Amino acid sequence: MSAGAASPQAHIPDLARPDSIPAAVEAALSEFFVSRRPLTDAVGGTFTPAVAALEAFVLRGGKRVRPAFAWTGWLGAGGDPAGPDAAAVLRACSALELVQACALVHDDIIDSSRTRRGHPTLHVEFAAQHRAGDWSGEPAKFGESIAILLGDLALSWADDMIRESGVDAAGQVRLGPVWSAMRTEVLGGQYLDVSTEVTADESVAAALRINRYKTAAYTIERPLHLGAAVAGADADLIDAYREFGTDIGIAFQLRDDLLGVFGDPAVTGKPSGDDLREGKRTVLFAEALLRADATDPAAAELLRRSIGADLGEDQVERLRGLITDLGAVDEVERRIAELTASGLRALDDSSAVPAAKAGLREMALAATRRSA
Ligand code: IPE
Ligand code: IPE
Ligand code: MG
Ligand code: MG
Repeated sequence: MSAGAASPQAHIPDLARPDSIPAAVEAALSEFFVSRRPLTDAVGGTFTPAVAALEAFVLRGGKRVRPAFAWTGWLGAGGDPAGPDAAAVLRACSALELVQACALVHDDIIDSSRTRRGHPTLHVEFAAQHRAGDWSGEPAKFGESIAILLGDLALSWADDMIRESGVDAAGQVRLGPVWSAMRTEVLGGQYLDVSTEVTADESVAAALRINRYKTAAYTIERPLHLGAAVAGADADLIDAYREFGTDIGIAFQLRDDLLGVFGDPAVTGKPSGDDLREGKRTVLFAEALLRADATDPAAAELLRRSIGADLGEDQVERLRGLITDLGAVDEVERRIAELTASGLRALDDSSAVPAAKAGLREMALAATRRSA
C-alpha cells in the first residue's frame, strides 16, 4: 500500500506508537463532527457557526488523556489494534473527549475561568461576540447561555458517538453501565465541588472525595473500565484497572490543584490562582489550613480570610509563599507519590498484557508529573 493511503487502519495507533493516540482521536472526532453536519445545517442560522466554535474547542489542544487510557486499557485486556473492530473501539474511546468538552465548558462557567487550552473559554468568547456585535441584552449572560447549550450538545453527542461507534451489540451491553456510572460520577463530583465551596467543609477527606468523583472517575478509572468492558475483560482485571485508575486519577487532580496555584498559565493554558479566588476547597488548601491551625493562628486567619476573595496578584503570591512554607505543597507531593506507587502496584499485579502494562505505567507517570 502506498504511504499515506487512506486505509481503514490509517489512524489506528498501536503500542509501538503511543504518541499517535491524540492524532487518531482527533481524526475520529473530526469525522464525527462531519457526520453531524446535515443535522446542524438543517437547524441553520447562527447555530451553524456556534457548532463550529464547539468543534474548534474540541479539536484544539487537550492532552486526550481519557481516550488514551480507554484505548490502552482495551489493548491491555487483549484488544487487537490490527483487528477488525479496532476502528470502532477507537471511535468509542474518542467519545470521551465529548464528555470532557461538556465538563470543561460547564466547569469554566461554574469556576468563572477566562482561559482554557490557551484560548478564551467558550462563554467568554461568546460574550465578546455579543459585545462586538452591540447586540441587545447582557453580554455575559449571553455567553453563559450559549456555553451551557454547547456543553449540553457535546454531552448529547458523546452519547451519539459511542452508540454509533460500530462497537457490536454485545460490547455496547458491556460498556453501557460503565458509561452511565461515569456520567453520574463526574456530575456528582462537580456538585460536591460547588457545594463544598459554600459550606466551607475544611476537611482533607471532603477534598479527596471531590477529587475521586469530579476527576479520577471520568479521567482514568472509568475510561480504563470502558476499554476493558469492550474487550470482555474478566472481573479481576477490571478491579485492578479501577484501583489503578482511582489512585492515579486522584493523583492527577492533586497535580492539577498544585498547577492551579503554582502553574505557568503559558504552559497549562489556564489561569493560576483562580482556585484561591473562587474558594476551591482543594486538598492543598485543606492541608495548609490544618498545619496553620496547629502552628500559626495568624496564618490560619489569613488563609480563611483570603479563600474566595477577589485577590490581586500580590496577594496570590503571598498565599503561594504561605502555603509552601506551611508544608502543604510537600504534603501534596507526598500524597501524589504515594498514590502513584499504590496505583502502579495494582497495575503490576494485574493480568494486563505486558506491553500495554508498560504503556499504562508511562501514561500514569506522565499524568501525575505533568506541568500542563
Ligand atoms: C482538566 O482535564 C480537568 C481536570 C479533570 C483536571 P485535562 O487536564 O485532561 O484537560 P485537557 O483535556 O488536557 O485540556
Ligand atoms: C475538574 O475541575 C473536573 C471537571 C472539569 C469535571 P477543575 O475546575 O478542578 O479543573 P480545571 O483546573 O478548571 O481544569
Ligand atoms: Mg471546577
Ligand atoms: Mg475549573
